[in-house]
Amino acid sequence: MSRMFVPGPVDVAPDVLAVQTKPMLPHRSAEFETIFQRASEKAKQLFFTQYRVFLVTASGSGLQEAAVRNFAQKSVLSCVNGAFAERWYNVAIANGKLADKLDVPWEQPVTPERVADALRQKHYEMLTIVHNETSTGLQNPVQEIVAAAHETSPDTLVCVDAVSSLGGVKIEMDAWGLDVLLTSSQKCLALPPGLALGAVSDRAMAYAESVPERGWYFDLLLMEKHRLKDSTPATPALSLIYALDYQLDRLLAEGLEARFARHRAMAERTQSWALERGLALFAPAGYRSQTVTTVDNRLNLDVAAINQFLKQREMRIANGYGPLKNKTFRIAHMGEIQVEDIERLISAMDEYLGTIVDYPM
Ligand SMILES: Cc1ncc(COP(=O)(O)O)c(C=O)c1O
Repeated sequence: MSRMFVPGPVDVAPDVLAVQTKPMLPHRSAEFETIFQRASEKAKQLFFTQYRVFLVTASGSGLQEAAVRNFAQKSVLSCVNGAFAERWYNVAIANGKLADKLDVPWEQPVTPERVADALRQKHYEMLTIVHNETSTGLQNPVQEIVAAAHETSPDTLVCVDAVSSLGGVKIEMDAWGLDVLLTSSQKCLALPPGLALGAVSDRAMAYAESVPERGWYFDLLLMEKHRLKDSTPATPALSLIYALDYQLDRLLAEGLEARFARHRAMAERTQSWALERGLALFAPAGYRSQTVTTVDNRLNLDVAAINQFLKQREMRIANGYGPLKNKTFRIAHMGEIQVEDIERLISAMDEYLGTIVDYPM
């Protein structure tokens, strides 16, 4: 299996891919409803929640849209310190919400103090935060932010995007008091793209009843009515649900704590290697992602040339995202990737750095 050290879509194990070739079933059949129910129930363990988990045929942006449509009549506060947080803000504006941006420099975390200050100045129905900013390799201190938000503005619904961390990093929906926690299939869950998963608290579901014009495809109250019958309003991506059902068994067999420890070990190895080689990291110490390392490319390495070199060894890394293209590059360590794979990548990267005359090794 080739290894893509990119932050999604990631490599999918061959047996998980194969499960998708199982024959179709009518989606309103007892056979499919049993699989759907089993997958949604198992997914709760990943979210550390007793609430519901919606399985939605969309990528992660779909659930960003669902959140702003269902949980705010008007006012949204978006914490923005990276490209995907910026997207959530744009999604809110595009859906006609009066969203304000809490802008934080991209190389800094969103802090509980900044969020509390903003919530003191104005009341917001919902708050959006990205847990793991895939563009910058920065993990925001969500647990502390949520505590500060609840203390300052108890009725503000706290919505968290964990698209590139859930399943690789422990995020405890209920214990931390989150209202919405969303992710998607093609990152730490190591499934093909096309499925988004979102856990929603009871109080958020109750609030949605007061929100008009929730749309139709992402109306979570309509989805809830169907979910209670182990179904969906529209046709779900059956093959992806088969794969999710199977992959959740693999994840739980690895053990969630073991899986989180593996992601931590891969992050530590990648980040300490980069620092040892004189490469700077974009995110500050204490806030570095466990699933993707963003290297500040101040040495001006040629990212395309690195990938050309790696390609001959059946590996690849990712360039920087958006405005950070070539200014950074990213090494993802999520999903099916093992510590041994990171060792193999590091050796190849060392070999590549060795070809650069005057590289300060
Ligand atoms: C943190 C984060 N949020 C949201 C998304 C959703 O993007 P998409 O809908 O294009 O998969 C991504 C995708 O990379 C992401 O990394």
